[in-house]
Amino acid sequence: MKAGIKVFAPATVANVAVGFDILGFALERPGDELIARFSDAPGLRITKITGDHGKLPYDVEKNTAGFAALRLLEHLGESGIGIELEIHKKMPFGSGLGSSAASAAAAVVAVNELLKNPLEKRELLPFAVLGEQVADGAYHADNVAPSLIGGMVLIRNNQELDVHRLYTPQGLFATVVYPHVEILTKDARGVLSPTVTLQQSIEQSGNLAGLIVGLFTSDLELIRRSLKDVIIEPQRARLIPRFYEVKEAALEAGALGCSISGAGPSIFALSANAAIAEEVGEAMRRVFADAGIPNDLFVSPINQEGAIKL
Ligand code: HSE
Repeated sequence: MKAGIKVFAPATVANVAVGFDILGFALERPGDELIARFSDAPGLRITKITGDHGKLPYDVEKNTAGFAALRLLEHLGESGIGIELEIHKKMPFGSGLGSSAASAAAAVVAVNELLKNPLEKRELLPFAVLGEQVADGAYHADNVAPSLIGGMVLIRNNQELDVHRLYTPQGLFATVVYPHVEILTKDARGVLSPTVTLQQSIEQSGNLAGLIVGLFTSDLELIRRSLKDVIIEPQRARLIPRFYEVKEAALEAGALGCSISGAGPSIFALSANAAIAEEVGEAMRRVFADAGIPNDLFVSPINQEGAIKL
């Protein structure tokens, strides 16, 4: 077997309460691993998938990683080249942690590395977004962009992929608790009303702008006041058991803010430092544990690197 390129792409928290489809950040862990290697047989093939409980397709046109890699290879005029992909899922899907986005980001980075990096990392974004679209049918980069390039990322416009890294204050820590219930992004998007009121738009844009100013100026109190989602969270909260109790526990334990991670069911909080983030995590877990809901906890700084070659 030929030597391969191994890539890690991190889990991500999309929306970040106030930026539905346009804001996301990367975690240090969990994440997916993917290996790409040349093969003698022409064309792209997926030869191995682990950690998916048999749920993911091997058909490259139907698999997020395969689809993203194919579109990249076409763009590079290398569709005929023999490449094998191994996908190692190291995080749950349907969890709100950007699982499909991580696989798509890992795939384009690994294939680009294998071909000796003809594109810059940022130039890989359109192909990774197409890959994720296979999974949930919508074109948005709020998971893919941070998984690929790292950091807290604002997507000013998804169609144009006008993507910007935001400064994050030193010490800012994320807590994510994943209760073991599955919510498919497609379904969580299906419950959303297509319209918002003028009042909701005013409040949400004030909070989004406030969060961005708070991040750039390290004004934690402004971040605290701004992490309030008046549009999406009220519509999706009922999909997540005990959501409001978990949120209250996080805020009482000192979190700056707490909301749904992506389409859920994971719930994230941001805190001023690692110690608070750990306490917040324990408080959030306790609510799920008391309700008999198995869960996983991840406490992480904002991952500034994104997808990397291992
Ligand atoms: N912004 C997306 C959503 C993220 O909340 O539906 C999940 O893919």
